[in-house]
Amino acid sequence: MSESIPVTETQTIPKVPTLPDAQTVTSVKHWNERLFSFRVTRPQSLRFRSGEFVMIGLMNDPDPKTGKQKPLLRAYSIASPSWDEELEFYSIKVPDGPLTSRLQHIEVGDEIILRPKPVGTLVLDALLPGKRLWMFATGTGIAPFASLMRDPETYEQYDEVILMHTCREVSELEYGRQLVESLPDDPLIGELVGGKLRYYPTTTQEESAQMGRITDNLSSGKVFADLGLPPMGAQHDRGMVCGNLAFNKDIMAVLEGFGLEEGANSDPKHYVVEKAFVD
Ligand SMILES: Cc1cc2nc3c(=O)[nH]c(=O)nc-3n(C[C@H](O)[C@H](O)[C@H](O)COP(=O)(O)OP(=O)(O)OC[C@H]3O[C@@H](n4cnc5c(N)ncnc54)[C@H](O)[C@@H]3O)c2cc1C
Ligand SMILES: NC(=O)c1ccc[n+]([C@@H]2O[C@H](COP(=O)([O-])OP(=O)(O)OC[C@H]3O[C@@H](n4cnc5c(N)ncnc54)[C@H](OP(=O)(O)O)[C@@H]3O)[C@@H](O)[C@H]2O)c1
Repeated sequence: MSESIPVTETQTIPKVPTLPDAQTVTSVKHWNERLFSFRVTRPQSLRFRSGEFVMIGLMNDPDPKTGKQKPLLRAYSIASPSWDEELEFYSIKVPDGPLTSRLQHIEVGDEIILRPKPVGTLVLDALLPGKRLWMFATGTGIAPFASLMRDPETYEQYDEVILMHTCREVSELEYGRQLVESLPDDPLIGELVGGKLRYYPTTTQEESAQMGRITDNLSSGKVFADLGLPPMGAQHDRGMVCGNLAFNKDIMAVLEGFGLEEGANSDPKHYVVEKAFVD
């Protein structure tokens, strides 16, 4: 938590932020050697739609010539829902990544930079009304869905919400698994989630109970058989996609094969896509 300077017994002056657009880290959790999540304070004026992303980062090292420091920023999906009083992020640790090689070492009380300009296409408004919402994620692409699956509006708009999350290894699924498992007991949205949220996690490299790429499990019809659902169709099914570039491209072809068309904020249709990272 941010420190404050005591003035009298009843008055305090908040500590002056040391970074531009500074927010204070309130918790950090490491899921394995490649993934961590953290929460920060939320600027009072920040409004966003669940599923959007913002730019966050740290100050870069000083320029050796001028001594000046510039912010080092990257796009991050907000993983917490729009009603949450804090902001949550779920992050990769790229060993030699300019930002995450340092960001992975943040601790409670540290400051990060957060530019309060949320944007993105993975929002409920960008889809036409439907019965079932499918969320397709690989790796850290689950972050925007961690937000949407905690938003009451998701369950008000859809009869069923299906989350397909695929990673190479079991430990990479753990953040999503714990979140999904915690939702029925959540005092705010537990009742709404009820039996509406279906979870279909798979691994592709490490042996686990359910395996296979999302694209293969859709094309073969395995996921529909396993969940007792009809094949996807434009009348009732809506999709949101967040993964690596090759995955996004491949799943778009699968969804188009089911007759779904890509939409946008300005032109809502049957599915929307966002990159989980830039290769
Ligand atoms: C719209 C958008 C939303 C994003 N949301 C998130 C998010 O919620 N969480 C998150 O961890 N990252 C997210 N990213 C990626 C993020 O912006 C950075 O790329 C990441 O934090 C690594 O930063 P870096 O400076 O350490 O390395 P960079 O120089 O940015 O990346 C180095 C390399 O690492 C790999 N890489 C980068 N990010 C990932 C990733 N997330 N998963 C797997 N490999 C990766 C790529 O091969 C990339 O070329 C998002 C990117 C975009 C475009
Ligand atoms: N995760 C690790 O253990 C690991 C270790 C070392 C280095 N890396 C590097 O880190 C980067 C990101 O790795 P990541 O595992 O986080 O993300 P990723 O490469 O995007 O893979 C995540 C999941 O998406 C699947 N996938 C990839 N392309 C797909 C496609 N076209 N269609 C359908 N599914 C697809 C993968 O299945 P497949 O397994 O079938 O590809 C995997 O299960 C990569 O550059 C990788 O080389 C990762």
